[in-house]
Amino acid sequence: MRNVQHKKEAYWFYRVLSIFYDKYVNPFFWTVGMRNEALTLGDFNSRNLKVADVGSGTGFTTVGISEFVDAKNISCLDQSPHQMAYAKARPKLQKSHFQLGDAEDLPFETDSFDRYVSAGSIEYWPEPLRGIAESYRIIKPGGKALMIGPLRPKNWFARLMADTWMLFPEEEEYVKWYEEAGFTDIQKLNTAPKWVFKEKYAVAIVGTKPTGGDSPAQLPEKKSEDVSDKMTFGRRLSFVWNLFIGNLAGFMFIPMAVVGYVNYGIRRLFGAIPEEKQAVLNDKMTIHQKVALTVIVLATGLGIWYF
Ligand SMILES: C[S@@+](CC[C@H](N)C(=O)[O-])C[C@H]1O[C@@H](n2cnc3c(N)ncnc32)[C@H](O)[C@@H]1O
Repeated sequence: MRNVQHKKEAYWFYRVLSIFYDKYVNPFFWTVGMRNEALTLGDFNSRNLKVADVGSGTGFTTVGISEFVDAKNISCLDQSPHQMAYAKARPKLQKSHFQLGDAEDLPFETDSFDRYVSAGSIEYWPEPLRGIAESYRIIKPGGKALMIGPLRPKNWFARLMADTWMLFPEEEEYVKWYEEAGFTDIQKLNTAPKWVFKEKYAVAIVGTKPTGGDSPAQLPEKKSEDVSDKMTFGRRLSFVWNLFIGNLAGFMFIPMAVVGYVNYGIRRLFGAIPEEKQAVLNDKMTIHQKVALTVIVLATGLGIWYF
């Protein structure tokens, strides 16, 4: 298991990250353009659909869902109260429902939702198949579960950092988990921010539940920890190690994104951006993103000059 692919580690990771998440994380790694592209797979064909958004965080994807479905029909679940506080404060989500809980043990009834959505959360789950089996359980027959998650990078450095940080599955693993969970009519698409050119970055995968009841997935006895479990001395040591090493590796994705954006800017200057990238992901940079980029570029420049 990866360093931050644990419930306690993810909890503390977001205890801090929630402060910056909307302003400085999403604009680089999970943009409005990517979100809108991925949500097309959800087949939101009525505003009355009942939707569960699992690992809903600060409500960034939930707001996207609320473009298609009445906010009062959306139930948000996350294990982080700190992330959820930001979601609850969003004007567009005032009528949505919020519940703290675990993606691998959902506090929802079997066959009770029309759609399940989870964006950018699976990478923290110790047992991804258990979480996907839960998505199957809670939707009605004919309902759809849409999962959006990162893909294991091909570039050796990005791959090393990803593997040290959290779970970045291969695309085939997502498909295998969906098949094992019992979904039919599985479809997927790839999405990426502007700065990723050379390789696949993230996948959105959707499947339909053919019949009612639990998932047919063969799961081992539940062994993964709960976020509120007591810590032993050994667990405390591994927790500190995991957070330190995992966050260090995760942090490395920021300079990677900056280099990617500089590369994007140069290509754009020379008219070398593939047309489909411009058409689909025409996100504008937010003011926070511009400030963050300027600070990082200046700090890097100063660092190079000084040493
Ligand atoms: C990258 S954020 C994604 C938030 C949101 N879906 C979005 O699109 O911006 C991942 C979220 O998953 C939550 N999370 C991680 N593990 C979880 C678990 N086992 N159960 C519920 N939520 C979890 C984290 O607390 C965090 O808010």
